[in-house]
Amino acid sequence: MSESTLDRSAIDALRAEFDRRLADAATEHALKAVQDEFLSRKSGSITALLKSLGTLPPDDRRAFGALVNDLKSDIETRLGEKKDALEQSRPPAGAVDVTLPARTLPYGRVHPLMRVRQQVEDVFSRMGYEILEGPEVEDDFHNFEALNMPPDHPARDMQDTLYLGVPIVGGTWGTHRVTTPAERRADGAAGSLPRAQVSAATLLRTHTSAMQIRYMKTFRPPVRIIVPGRVYRRDNLDLSHTPMFQQIEGLVVGEGITLADLKGTFEALLTEIFGDVKIRLRPSFFPYTEPSAEIDISCRSCSGSGCATCKHTGWIEILGSGMVHPAVFEAVGYDPETVTGFAFGVGIERLAMLKYGVDDIRLFYENDVRFLDQFPL
Ligand code: DAH
Repeated sequence: MSESTLDRSAIDALRAEFDRRLADAATEHALKAVQDEFLSRKSGSITALLKSLGTLPPDDRRAFGALVNDLKSDIETRLGEKKDALEQSRPPAGAVDVTLPARTLPYGRVHPLMRVRQQVEDVFSRMGYEILEGPEVEDDFHNFEALNMPPDHPARDMQDTLYLGVPIVGGTWGTHRVTTPAERRADGAAGSLPRAQVSAATLLRTHTSAMQIRYMKTFRPPVRIIVPGRVYRRDNLDLSHTPMFQQIEGLVVGEGITLADLKGTFEALLTEIFGDVKIRLRPSFFPYTEPSAEIDISCRSCSGSGCATCKHTGWIEILGSGMVHPAVFEAVGYDPETVTGFAFGVGIERLAMLKYGVDDIRLFYENDVRFLDQFPL
């Protein structure tokens, strides 16, 4: 090392550099880096300076050696002081910094299907309906037979059914409090389970209509109920099918209930859900209603003039409905001569798809937050 680098100014420059670096070191980690930079045995700049003293003539060596040692002990003292100060200001273990800004909590939101269900429930409870749920595991009697679909009835093919491997003997929920004359003839004792039910296969309900039977066999008219819930069919997943989906069943029974009541009820419901739409009834077929009707709303994409969404008809099918078939009343012990009623079944996914413009039913069940985030809170 040349003499010029070992004069006072070199030592002053190193001291000034240390002052700067020390002032910048705001953490214990940074302080350790400063210590290494100046004092490390292998590469510290003070260490290097001390090593180079050996190359000087003895007098210079003494003079510079004293200066370098002064600087070294000064550096050691000040590093120690700063280390103490940083340790003092270190927060106690486990402390909470109450001055930190709060983390924003992600809000959950109501699932679009639940939102539609709640909206429908809202409309009907304002109209005085009771809301109830029923069992998802049903028996053949409630799901088909009492709804006027005896074994071999072709209408059963409209709903591909998932049967339980091992049937639940005697049905799945509640007992018969009302036994029909036909049941009494077949079974002898009033109140016993009808043979049809005892021998019935058990299945995942294909529609909520089964609850019409359960309710009517238990309670006398008048009836005003809706029944939301899950239903199951042997369908593969595609744009418009899922093997599990949700329906809302409705049933109104009393004296003098007419098709006009049915239509008025749907005008109220559908305008509340879809806004300013027209509705129409179109003849259809269900074994448990006579007459039966599909209810359509005017297409909202084209206001009824015809477009791809409504397949150029101007109308979109929303739900199935009709006047309760006398055979259904007979199956539950109601007198079809004194009461009439209407019933309907609506798919919640279908309502939600039309309301929110969703074109793939699977999105409702994938729970991708990028999809769910798009619905209002
Ligand atoms: N159960 C029918 C279905 O799943 C829907 C339905 C149609 C329900 C007519 C009814 C009705 O109560 O009267 O497709």
